[in-house]
Amino acid sequence: MIEMHDVWKVYPNGIEALRGIDVKVDQGEFVYIVGPSGAGKSSFIKLMYREEKPTHGVVLINGVNVKRVRDWKIPYVRRRIGVVFQDYKLLPHLSAYENVAFAMEAVETPKREMKPRVQEVLELVGLGDRMKALPSQLSGGEQQRVSIARAIVNNPTFIIADEPTGNLDPENSWDIMYLLEEINARGTTVVMATHNKEIVNTMRQRVIAIEQGVIVRDELEGEYGYED
Ligand SMILES: Nc1ncnc2c1ncn2[C@@H]1O[C@H](COP(=O)(O)OP(=O)(O)O)[C@@H](O)[C@H]1O
Ligand SMILES: [Mg+2]
Repeated sequence: MIEMHDVWKVYPNGIEALRGIDVKVDQGEFVYIVGPSGAGKSSFIKLMYREEKPTHGVVLINGVNVKRVRDWKIPYVRRRIGVVFQDYKLLPHLSAYENVAFAMEAVETPKREMKPRVQEVLELVGLGDRMKALPSQLSGGEQQRVSIARAIVNNPTFIIADEPTGNLDPENSWDIMYLLEEINARGTTVVMATHNKEIVNTMRQRVIAIEQGVIVRDELEGEYGYED
């Protein structure tokens, strides 16, 4: 479960990106975060995986106050959280296999457990036959599937995605959404910031709308609600 209580994020330049966020996301939910550019969606997402700390207020991830987590323990908190970015953020000199294995090495998984698990998740995302390819040899949709494999390899309780379809064409976007839906159906909570109106209005999940750092709408089976 993720909980935020009166959370503010004020950057050093004085910008108040989040202003008094109260929210709870339960295990197993699928949540879209929508809102105009600059609304605070990415800041909200970054607080959820402890990339940023709140300036004020409390963020609890599975009951743990992220402000109190010591730096060396962050990989262990993040083990419970898989993160997916718009620009994939794969390591360019590593193969698809190595990019996924790297996430398991970061949490000191025994070597003999790694190989079968990396193969399993790459097969799950449909890349069982591209494991040796470098990111530059893969399409955008394939790179995003590697990044999803990397996000799920440590069996996280959450997947947090910041505009994961933002660089993809509609067909690849839908492939990514079906994958996230399947991962959610297996019990993983998914929180996804998006500008994709068609996807939000078709998949009908919980929608949290943020404007100017404030939650202005929070609906089960919600709609995108913006013209852009
Ligand atoms: N690291 C940062 N330093 C200073 N200002 C930032 C930083 N990150 C975001 N902002 C500002 O905070 C506001 C919210 O940004 P962001 O969370 O990225 O919104 P969104 O993802 O909805 O576009 C914007 O005004 C943005 O310029
Ligand atoms: Mg953003």
